[in-house]
Amino acid sequence: MSDAPTVHTRGISACGLVKHYEGGRVRAVDGLDLTIDAGEFVAICGPSGCGKTTLLNLLAAVDRPDSGSLSVDGQVLTEMSETGIDTFRRVTVGLVFQLHNLLPDLSALENVQVPLLGAGVSRNERLKRASALLERVDLLDRKDALPAALSGGERQRVAIARALANRPSILLADEPTGALDSRNGQRLLDLLDDLQRENGTTLVVVTHEQSVASRAGRILNMLDGRMTDGAA
Ligand SMILES: Nc1ncnc2c1ncn2[C@@H]1O[C@H](COP(=O)(O)OP(=O)(O)OP(=O)(O)O)[C@@H](O)[C@H]1O
Ligand SMILES: [Mg+2]
Repeated sequence: MSDAPTVHTRGISACGLVKHYEGGRVRAVDGLDLTIDAGEFVAICGPSGCGKTTLLNLLAAVDRPDSGSLSVDGQVLTEMSETGIDTFRRVTVGLVFQLHNLLPDLSALENVQVPLLGAGVSRNERLKRASALLERVDLLDRKDALPAALSGGERQRVAIARALANRPSILLADEPTGALDSRNGQRLLDLLDDLQRENGTTLVVVTHEQSVASRAGRILNMLDGRMTDGAA
């Protein structure tokens, strides 16, 4: 063993992260520091408007920060080109949006395959993986339904299956149990536990539900665009 300091090569490391809107009037993320180890299950809690969704979007490289440094899964996002960022989004992270963002003209089975298009995965393999994921969220019998014909909770489960299609090393989820009843909420939490245990997936889940937060290894509280305690 060497005495070298721990380097969070595969986890998440943010330092002085800033994302403002409306010319600085809205300080959504405001000098935030955060360290998450690879394979951790972290819950992020905080009042509405404190910047949780903005932070997840930065971690997923859906948005880019105004300043600060951010490294995710060993990749320094704040120094990467657009091409590198594209690959990162496709390969490294799965994101479950607060609003599930399913494509309305595609069936459940097709929606789950979207991240695999252009990823060099054969049609057969795509179908196989998407079916297995829908089965895992208990929706295989609804595979041909369009989002409009699914309930809110069912759409949320399709969105979760879609986020897992690429077998991401980091899964970011924004209120994933918000639209689920307690039975399906528990099933989702079991699925997250399995992912963490079997694949070493790093889980970052925004939630206001105690039942979700209590399953995480660590709870981080966010307020006014920053973590309030011990997050770095
Ligand atoms: N595109 C945008 N343009 C301007 N302001 C924005 C934009 N997106 C978010 N904001 C503002 O940034 C702040 C943080 O928003 P964010 O969506 O990150 O909050 P949140 O913690 O996820 O809230 P909630 O729990 O309600 O989902 C809010 O004041 C919001 O109004
Ligand atoms: Mg939000």
